[in-house]
Amino acid sequence: SIHPVILCGGSGTRLWPASRESFPKQFIPLAEPERSSFQATAARLGDPAVFARPTVVTANDARFLVAEQLAQGGIEADILLEPCRRDSAPAVAVAALHAAARDPQALVLILPADHAVGDDAAFVAAVRAAGAGARAGHVMTLGITPTNPSTAYGYIQPGAPLAGAAGEGGACAVARFLEKPDAARAAALIADGALWNGGYFLFRADVMLDELEAHAPAVLAAARDALEGATRDLDFVRLDAEAFARAPQISIDYAVMERTERAGVLPVRFPWSDIGTWGALWEVSDRDGDGNAVRGRVALRDTRDSLVHSSGGILTTVVGLEGVVVVTTEDAVLVTGRTAGAEVKGLVEDLRRRG
Ligand code: GDD
Ligand code: MG
Repeated sequence: SIHPVILCGGSGTRLWPASRESFPKQFIPLAEPERSSFQATAARLGDPAVFARPTVVTANDARFLVAEQLAQGGIEADILLEPCRRDSAPAVAVAALHAAARDPQALVLILPADHAVGDDAAFVAAVRAAGAGARAGHVMTLGITPTNPSTAYGYIQPGAPLAGAAGEGGACAVARFLEKPDAARAAALIADGALWNGGYFLFRADVMLDELEAHAPAVLAAARDALEGATRDLDFVRLDAEAFARAPQISIDYAVMERTERAGVLPVRFPWSDIGTWGALWEVSDRDGDGNAVRGRVALRDTRDSLVHSSGGILTTVVGLEGVVVVTTEDAVLVTGRTAGAEVKGLVEDLRRRG
């Protein structure tokens, strides 16, 4: 079976003010009214014929949030706790070591906690289809058909079909992996047939450990020490703070995927969104007849194609506008255009600097 590992350490600043440092977007019901994307991700792994007990890697501060949200869904998991933020490469390293301790050749699936996937069955089918490549020693990715030259994603140039892969649309070796290129580069890559990296990685634990050893040995060494020095209470595995702090802060994309020669990609077609911005959330949300996605105490008049969320109980009203985002919480209000989404991150950085 496949050992799923949910990475849930991001902070999601582009979805401010709903997403906060202390309550990041993956724990908020955004795309669906009743459950968070973390809960939807965990629920997607429910078939015991396909998936083993999941592991969650998260910040120590988020442990109760994670435990509570899992319990709500009746899901049990190992929860690995990071004492500080080091981006995704150390988290992947710790997860690969954790899986390898039980079975060196265990198949590990890394999943982001903050995505919306429109078709769970198609997602599981894709993961299973990628399994053959992973078993054969590839670090498999899922390739998404790009819709615009976004600079928020990794780009994957497919190479030769993998041995045994079904022809058209089957799994391929990765000719080139480029993390977050600039817009001009991204456009050229798309014209060349490149895919977006979906953010999912499926590999044999021993293969990932080899690649980390080759391309990011400091990450692997710190992760190994952090896990060896870990203490366990209940489902929590607390990584050793001093050892984990020695890990370089780097994402798995830069640390391994851009450098490995063992990457593979399976092109996929299920509806996918990383809900990176309010505009992206509008796109995956249920909308009323006027194209509005609303949540909470909201009243609209003569307003179209907008996202209006009120989570702090403040009656939030919009009259006579089109394509806007209005988000109110207990202590903050955001008003912006639906397409200006990515700049919210800059605003949050400004606010942080001002303290
Ligand atoms: N445990 C843990 N610790 N998880 C982390 C940490 C950390 O320090 N930092 C990030 N993560 C988690 C996030 O919560 C998210 O689930 C996942 O790792 C990816 O991190 P992001 O910060 O969201 O990465 P990204 O969106 O900029 O880029 C990645 O995802 C894109 C698709 O959404 C890359 O893999 C891109 O290549 C890819 O296209
Ligand atoms: Mg992301």
